[in-house]
Amino acid sequence: MPAAILTTQTPEITLAPTPVRKPLKGQKALVTGGDSGIGKGIALALGAAGADVVVNYHSDAAAANNVADAIAQLGSRALVHQADVSQEEQVLEMFQQMFDELGTIDILVANAGLQKDAPLTEMTLAQWNAVISVNLTGQFLCCREVVREFKRRGVVKKVSCAAGKIVCVSSVHEVIPWAGHVNYAASKGGINMMMKTIAQEVAPHRIRINSIAPGAIRTPINRAAWDTPEAMHDLLTLIPYGRIGEPSDIGRAAAWLASDDSDYVHGTTLFVDGGMTLYPGFADGG
Ligand code: BGC
Repeated sequence: MPAAILTTQTPEITLAPTPVRKPLKGQKALVTGGDSGIGKGIALALGAAGADVVVNYHSDAAAANNVADAIAQLGSRALVHQADVSQEEQVLEMFQQMFDELGTIDILVANAGLQKDAPLTEMTLAQWNAVISVNLTGQFLCCREVVREFKRRGVVKKVSCAAGKIVCVSSVHEVIPWAGHVNYAASKGGINMMMKTIAQEVAPHRIRINSIAPGAIRTPINRAAWDTPEAMHDLLTLIPYGRIGEPSDIGRAAAWLASDDSDYVHGTTLFVDGGMTLYPGFADGG
């Protein structure tokens, strides 16, 4: 037997590239309000997880196109579609166009939302209606259309074990009252009951629906709450985890809720809020 050859040379180690998990590969998603803020974070996360994404937007076409380009860079297909989700005709047209171009839909993220803040006695009916119609009626219209399609198509086993998944973007203000924002808090409280009621109704069809309740996330909607050191300091007193949230925090949660990894999660709200709903004022009081 020849003696073993001893060498001082370090053998070359070739590390296999870390496999990128694409749990949403082959699935088609619609993200309303996907052009900015939390919606953008979600659209990117779904694209990164392998889904083809329709990025709905209301007025900023350039921003929507940027998100679509970024998704394409991640290797997924992306389309943009302008629609005001509070308008029934526009929602119907958006779904029809999605079916024409992508064939069907597997994931809806009902995210589009806005704030029009005012103290109760100064809030106009127009401010009330604007928020309720986008945040709540818009989610109702999109949920109704998507459930029609999920029921028509049913489960396609090689795509997902569910016939479809819905993620409603709510807020910590579905449970935390918010003075000066009665329209917004009412819309988010409404999303909670809407989601649970739909959940009860659609479960037998193997359709899953859940909500995400973000806390303070660094987006344009709440810029005033974080863009000065003083504002950030005050904000952090409300967040036990000690940092503001980022859109990607919500994106990862949405990708999980949309995937078969969460297949037995149904009719619930996932709070992604750094502990904002833990009554931080009681940490050293009460
Ligand atoms: C609101 C933000 C706010 C956050 C926490 C969100 O739903 O849109 O403006 O900062 O809740 O209060």
